[in-house]
Amino acid sequence: MTLKLRTRLVITHLCTALLTVLFFTVTAGLFTGFLFEKYADVTQARKTAALVRSLEDQYQESGWQKEEIVKIGVQGLSYGFITKVRDAGDKVVWDALEHDREACQQTLRHISHSMRRFLSGWEGEYTTKTYPLSKGGKEIGTLEVGFMGPYFLTELELNYLGPLNKILAVLALVCIIAALTLSRWVNKGLTKELDKINRLAGLVAQKKSYDPLLFTSSSEEIRKALDNIKQLGQTLEEQEQVKKRMTADLAHELRTPLTTLQANLEGLLEGIWQPTKERLSSCHEEILRIIRLVGDLEQLTKFESDQMKLNGATFDLGELAGNICLNFQGAYRQKGVVLEFVGKKEMMTGDRDKISQLVVNLLSNSLKHTSTGGKVILVSSSNKDFIYLVLNDSGSGIPPEDLTRVFDRLYRADISRTRATGGSGIGLAIARAIVEAHHGSINIVSQVGTGTEVTVVLPRNYLKDKTMESEV
Ligand SMILES: Nc1ncnc2c1ncn2[C@@H]1O[C@H](COP(=O)(O)OP(=O)(O)OP(=O)(O)O)[C@@H](O)[C@H]1O
Ligand SMILES: [Mg+2]
Repeated sequence: MTLKLRTRLVITHLCTALLTVLFFTVTAGLFTGFLFEKYADVTQARKTAALVRSLEDQYQESGWQKEEIVKIGVQGLSYGFITKVRDAGDKVVWDALEHDREACQQTLRHISHSMRRFLSGWEGEYTTKTYPLSKGGKEIGTLEVGFMGPYFLTELELNYLGPLNKILAVLALVCIIAALTLSRWVNKGLTKELDKINRLAGLVAQKKSYDPLLFTSSSEEIRKALDNIKQLGQTLEEQEQVKKRMTADLAHELRTPLTTLQANLEGLLEGIWQPTKERLSSCHEEILRIIRLVGDLEQLTKFESDQMKLNGATFDLGELAGNICLNFQGAYRQKGVVLEFVGKKEMMTGDRDKISQLVVNLLSNSLKHTSTGGKVILVSSSNKDFIYLVLNDSGSGIPPEDLTRVFDRLYRADISRTRATGGSGIGLAIARAIVEAHHGSINIVSQVGTGTEVTVVLPRNYLKDKTMESEV
């Protein structure tokens, strides 16, 4: 069952308030019962002591004063006591029940009724207690006091204490009303904030523009959520741009060889041109260019997919980079560019083939963009956890406005020049995908006319740790 958050919160708050009130009422009830019992004990003891004292006082050498005993007995009845006085010989001198049975029974009934009304759990039954009476050190008899036990309070006393229960009930009501009001207030604020998140997410999802200033909050968590949605919106926008740019670039890349092919084939078909070897090989070259582009794109998609499969192996990166440099020496020498490698043994665990491709891509870029007489130097170094590959060339450099985009697919800083070199603008995108798959980083610093420096940082054991993790 789906409930509105507001309803859920009201129910939660109400339940909390009710539970608190219940706990409070039960505790207060137990506590007042205990206090009443103590209070009743003390008043009962005080009243019986007063009766005993009055009886002892009225006793004369000549014996009991009947009229006085009656007065004391009637007073006892007003306290809720049914009294019985016996002399030293255990003979009944006066018995309240005999004196006025109806009044006695009525008093007891009255007390039971009031007590039950006041304390719902009260269960009283007729109890008697006997107190010795003495005068001048001589035993003169006993006073038997009958009452509704184990404890009771008279109506007058209950009238004093009675409002306590009412106060508790009013307090409970106030608590519930306060909880509901507070809940309403809190819920209103919270749902308003959630509404804001909802609206912003909706605008971002529909790619609609919004005023960022309208979507802020004084609550830290909500502000973070709003900021994250804004960030998400920006990322989506950027991705959209990249997608559009890539499609446009791809169309542009394909159009050139296709137009050349079309023109050539039409000329051949219409008999304007003869199918000479040169003309056919020019068409063949264009087809090769398209095939290379499609192949590069295919490879990049494979590298950029989340499931790029890395075949982990432990190898010497210094040795690998040195060998690749050796393989490149011929091409570099042909162009009149000096290639140098400085490095030692650097053991790491990673995908040897992919790291090798990374170095090849970087070295081929430097070769392409460094003119005769230039110098390219590759240095490998390391610390405990990372291996650094720094490739420095004295080539043409990359303009600052292109520097942020050279890792994008199909992006080439100087299209007219790089087309001549046959690049598709994918080498660096592949390099970055390889480095990121190894949880490393790649960074380019460049200055037009001075040269370019590419720094690659690779964790020495990322793949090893990962393999161990999956084995565990
Ligand atoms: N060392 C460098 N010196 C100057 N410019 C460079 C250098 N490396 C890369 N670039 C610029 O960055 C662009 C992107 O490089 P990337 O390697 O991705 O593509 P490419 O070399 O043009 O083509 P591909 O590598 O796919 O054959 C290049 O076109 C070039 O303009
Ligand atoms: Mg390249």
